[in-house]
Amino acid sequence: MENFSPDVLISEEEIALRIDALAKAISDDFAGQELVVVCVLKGAFMFCSDLIKKIELPINLEFIQVSSYGDGTTSSGSIELKLDLTGSIAGKNVLMVEDIVDTGLTIKSLFEIMELRKPKSLKLASLLFKPDRNVHKMPIDYLGFEIEDKFVIGYGLDYAGRYRELPYVGVLNAGN
Ligand code: IMP
Repeated sequence: MENFSPDVLISEEEIALRIDALAKAISDDFAGQELVVVCVLKGAFMFCSDLIKKIELPINLEFIQVSSYGDGTTSSGSIELKLDLTGSIAGKNVLMVEDIVDTGLTIKSLFEIMELRKPKSLKLASLLFKPDRNVHKMPIDYLGFEIEDKFVIGYGLDYAGRYRELPYVGVLNAGN
């Protein structure tokens, strides 16, 4: 484990360039307005942190955390709210920030919860999207990268709680 070195799939430099473009698009789309940015814990913490540094708008940062019930790899599961927002989002522009949209269950369920709270607008930014496994079709307004159906780690994403601290998105080698 000590000598373990994942393969780089998306480098730190590629991520930074993409974030610059996403932040510019977000800043342009909401020009002159305030934005509530909701970071979906834990996986989106690094993406969200780098993204908000580049968005040129007044931002109110919130956190939310959910977990899947039962078999989290199937699309028929449901989610449990583990940590909720601290403030009201009624009448506000809200940007949800996710690490990855896989089956789409997590973000679809989160959008249902958020929409009940009557925001002025509700948009989604996701660093990654795996189209091969997507069941719950949700428009991703600001997407970093579309990737193949591989399990990725790093830049916030974990495998069994590990590798979140890596500055790049990587894949685990077979045999590790
Ligand atoms: P979904 O509900 O199937 O879209 O799954 C979304 C969540 O599953 C993400 O927020 C991640 O926490 C986790 N996840 C899905 N694919 C991966 C992966 O390749 N690496 C790490 N976590 C993943």
